[in-house]
Amino acid sequence: MRMYDIIEKKRDGQALSEEEIRFFVNGYTNGDIPDYQVSALLMAIYFRDMTEQERALLTSAMVDSGDTIDLSAIMGIKVDKHSTGGVGDTTTLILAPLVASVGVPVAKMSGRGLGHTGGTIDKLEAVPGFHVEITNDQFIELVNKNKVAVVGQSGNLTPADKKLYSLRDVTATVNSIPLIASSIMSKKIASGADAIVLDVKTGAGAFMKSYDEAKELAKAMVSIGNRVGRNTMAVISDMSQPLGNAIGNALEVEEAIDTLKGNGPEDLTELCLTLGSQMVVLANKAATVEEARSILEENISNGRAFEQFKTFLESQGGNSEIADDPTLLPKASYTIELPAKSSGYVDEIVADDIGTAAMMLGAGRATKESEIDLAVGIVLHKKIGDPVQEGEALATIHTNKEAIDEVKAKLYESITISGETVKAPTLIYDTITE
Ligand code: URA
Ligand code: CA
Repeated sequence: MRMYDIIEKKRDGQALSEEEIRFFVNGYTNGDIPDYQVSALLMAIYFRDMTEQERALLTSAMVDSGDTIDLSAIMGIKVDKHSTGGVGDTTTLILAPLVASVGVPVAKMSGRGLGHTGGTIDKLEAVPGFHVEITNDQFIELVNKNKVAVVGQSGNLTPADKKLYSLRDVTATVNSIPLIASSIMSKKIASGADAIVLDVKTGAGAFMKSYDEAKELAKAMVSIGNRVGRNTMAVISDMSQPLGNAIGNALEVEEAIDTLKGNGPEDLTELCLTLGSQMVVLANKAATVEEARSILEENISNGRAFEQFKTFLESQGGNSEIADDPTLLPKASYTIELPAKSSGYVDEIVADDIGTAAMMLGAGRATKESEIDLAVGIVLHKKIGDPVQEGEALATIHTNKEAIDEVKAKLYESITISGETVKAPTLIYDTITE
């Protein structure tokens, strides 16, 4: 088999066979096929697309390029959730204990990564003592015992995706539905879940800015998951403004606690109930999403979800007293209010820019080497559509630096106020099951 022929075939718009797809994925991973030939193929895929069958084959080939996590020793149907990324997305911290409280096993592998705030692991490390350095055996034992555990990423998962993603980054081929969908799904499948709930974000703070693009990506990922034997569904949700009110690591832990107690922000609560219900159904713990939702609501009001969160923190060395007394979480030295410069209705809270402001405070990593300040961040007091009076606080900035003029300027730039009433954006746009 020759790489030349594979490039030519895709250039002419034909579907590649399983053998051809495996040949280029394996050949590229082990260094036999050079960047320039794979670049040409990626560009051909960008323009010619891939059939649903090809996308599933590409995903499987990427999964098989490295290690896979074996969760078969965990009882029950393991359901994982994946979000395509947003600002202030605290859902994992809430969903893990919430669905575990219903008996759904949550075996979460998570990362740190770059971005506006830390990843799920960084956020959890705001809890004094909490650690994710546990062995695979301990991880499995904890999930069997408590239904929930979080471990740091280990092993060499999907090396093909790592190489292909770096190459896409420098060849203008990142923005391709078959390539994005196979990249995301290969990582989820290699992590061992039996079923997957996807939260595909759309809006200014999302990877997919328009609803149509988000829907296309959601459909592509759901098709891949189901073709490779993992029950998969997707929810398309809004990311035009940050989710919830808190953006920052310890601040989001506090927000998660509020939500588990039933006092969380409305949008964050609603999204968690929506995604959680789908997880419960995929895990066969309820027959319908309506039934699942009422069980989850019940476990919030009777305190089971909150107790599950405390058990989860303790089982990984964390001080669960933070749940009853959030002042035990890391605290910033200064809290500074951001007063509205005019009266009216909040028209825009550009999620991306709010995230950048949080990163400027130190809440996220700009480079792999940056250190995160777990205490700092932003708490919004207004969301799109809310009325506001001149001088009223739009947000509170939690900071360890006194000089934050640039952060304030960034926030003023990203929050706009209109003289006319503004409609709050739709939170859940769609549910995709096939
Ligand atoms: N995120 C991924 O993991 N892969 C992509 O291709 C795009 C976003
Ligand atoms: Ca939040």
